[in-house]
Amino acid sequence: MFHGSGLFALLLMVLEWTRPGLSSPLRPICDLRVLDHFIKEAWDAEAAMRACKDACSIATNFTAPLTRVDFDVWEAMNIEEQAQEVQSGLHVLNETISSLQASNQTDVLQSHIDASISNIASIRQVLRSLSIPEYVPPASGGEDKEMQNVSSISELFQVHINFLRGKVRLLLANAPVCHQGVS
Ligand SMILES: *[C@@H]1O[C@H](CO)[C@@H](O)[C@H](O)[C@H]1NC(C)=O
Ligand SMILES: *[C@@H]1O[C@H](CO)[C@@H](O)[C@H](O)[C@H]1NC(C)=O
Ligand SMILES: *[C@@H]1O[C@H](CO)[C@@H](O)[C@H](O)[C@H]1NC(C)=O
Ligand SMILES: *[C@@H]1O[C@H](CO)[C@@H](O)[C@H](O)[C@H]1NC(C)=O
Repeated sequence: MFHGSGLFALLLMVLEWTRPGLSSPLRPICDLRVLDHFIKEAWDAEAAMRACKDACSIATNFTAPLTRVDFDVWEAMNIEEQAQEVQSGLHVLNETISSLQASNQTDVLQSHIDASISNIASIRQVLRSLSIPEYVPPASGGEDKEMQNVSSISELFQVHINFLRGKVRLLLANAPVCHQGVS
């Protein structure tokens, strides 16, 4: 089924799972249009942040994941390593974007910030549905090499988009559970 309504039903199911107290996904979400929907929302958030001048120009150091993908390196990694890179990147994005909730932005920006946080939670559920290993915090003191500092809110949201379009998409597209015969 490639109808918009099929996609809508999938999205509803993913959103349902992220409500507190509800159980985990029962079937794998292999449809990349679900991720594309979240990427589109990330574009909307980025556009709003870019349009916002003063309130968003707080000079600060945001921690964000590195987004550049070196395909040779990526393909040489096993699924656990790829998963760890994606999960730790999502973890950091969630922490950083969550920290913006306290920054007294306008209602419009707040709603994009809230939407971004719930999208990250939804993507986590999609990964869980594909049996992708969960986030494991690095051993204490260990610095994560796959991180960078960004200095503005709009740059942070650009990183968010690029991370979803790059590493997250690659991981989802190659999830083993989606390539075991017909589903
Ligand atoms: C952010 O970090 C960089 C490098 O660590 C530093 O040069 C810069 O002064 C910092 N900026 C702010 C606003 O803290
Ligand atoms: C938050 O922003 C509003 C309007 O931009 C302003 O009136 C209010 O004083 C701000 N609150 C804080 C705690 O900075
Ligand atoms: C995102 O961060 C917030 C605040 O730190 C936390 O409460 C929430 O559980 C995190 N969500 C995910 C999906 O990690
Ligand atoms: C980011 O900034 C912090 C504090 O300003 C610094 O300690 C850290 O080394 C920076 N990280 C990178 C990857 O530049």
